[in-house]
Amino acid sequence: MNILSIETSCDETAISILRVSGNTETPQFTILGNHVASQIALHAQYGGVFPALAKREHVKAITPLFIQVLKDANMHKIGVNDTLTESVKKDIETLLTREVDMHSDIIQSAYSLEKPQIDAIAITTGPGLEPALWVGVNFAKTLSMLWNIPLIPVNHMEGHVMSVVAQTSGDTFEVAPITFPALSLLVSGGHTELVVIRDWMVYEKIGQTKDDAVGEAFDKVARIVGLPYPGGPAISALAREAREQNLPREVEFPRPMLHSGTYDFSYSGLKTAVLYKTKEMGALTDEHKKIIAREFEEAAIEVLVKKTLKAIDQYSIQTVMVGGGVANNSYLQSELRKSIKNYNPEILIYFPRTDFSTDNALMIGVAGYYQFLKNKNGAQLDTVKACGTMTL
Ligand code: KG4
Ligand code: ZN
Repeated sequence: MNILSIETSCDETAISILRVSGNTETPQFTILGNHVASQIALHAQYGGVFPALAKREHVKAITPLFIQVLKDANMHKIGVNDTLTESVKKDIETLLTREVDMHSDIIQSAYSLEKPQIDAIAITTGPGLEPALWVGVNFAKTLSMLWNIPLIPVNHMEGHVMSVVAQTSGDTFEVAPITFPALSLLVSGGHTELVVIRDWMVYEKIGQTKDDAVGEAFDKVARIVGLPYPGGPAISALAREAREQNLPREVEFPRPMLHSGTYDFSYSGLKTAVLYKTKEMGALTDEHKKIIAREFEEAAIEVLVKKTLKAIDQYSIQTVMVGGGVANNSYLQSELRKSIKNYNPEILIYFPRTDFSTDNALMIGVAGYYQFLKNKNGAQLDTVKACGTMTL
């Protein structure tokens, strides 16, 4: 079967088409089309993401992206769509009264197409920025009505959890072996969570951040030292240089909640500590920036690694799955691998491959397929809503 997936929860408009074949226990996925339109350059000018601006950009990007992905999958064929009846047209008109800006784009592009060989649509419904999420949700609902195929709501965080299943490179991949109980460490610009996974799709969140997410802290510290949004990769690069050049350890930052006895996190105090320290230091030299970046990164990551290890021990974890943009952080990768190997070399550990790590539609398609196996009819359309604060 073929799944079209759509993701618009934050500042990336992403659409992909995945072909799923083989046994349902060990499915094989082939990427037929996949595109991400990033708004990062725009938001960088303002130092963060504004929901109304994000929504406007999604509206602009979504239809051209959809056409492009259909073309890449060889599914863009002008012709007659048998499922487009007068009553379907009326339902779509009613739905799109809520998305007037998108209305003519969709109508012009999708109404004139033959129904493509797509069997279901997976759509991110939350968590994220609600106005942004609604763009994707209404687009997906329109296509579901137009082609009369199931709509599968997907939790964005479940997408990040499932993002590690693709461990081989290339367009075709099998699901990596996962032994339960597994543990997902979710680290992004919006979330910092530890989730125990007892079986496919059975989640127990055991801890989360009380304030800022770890990626958000990276972004804020980047801003403090004068680097553009999103600052995670830049801070990480500076920290690496400090290590390579063996720069002196002139600053010390706290390891927040390290000994709290819980699996919760807190990153806002660490960011404030960086802010005070930089004020005290005055004008920062490049060397100062590297020293600050290294100490910040090591403080932020030490807490993630130690709490992950504690959870591995307490819950007899067999597989660790790291998801979200911060999973790209090479220091986190090496520290976590090292600590887990020391603890028990049998434990499997997975980080997402690059195209699955920051926000993308591939992970939504993969999670959507597992949801589809549970409910092949998909969701009742009028129950599918965007929810900014949805949890796993
Ligand atoms: O998962 P993601 O693309 O979007 C959210 O759902 O938030 O994560 C984006 C976050 C940003 O905060 C970015 O700075 C951070 O991931 N990030 C990194 C690195 N690459 C991306 N943080 C630290 N080190 C990195 N290498
Ligand atoms: Zn994300």
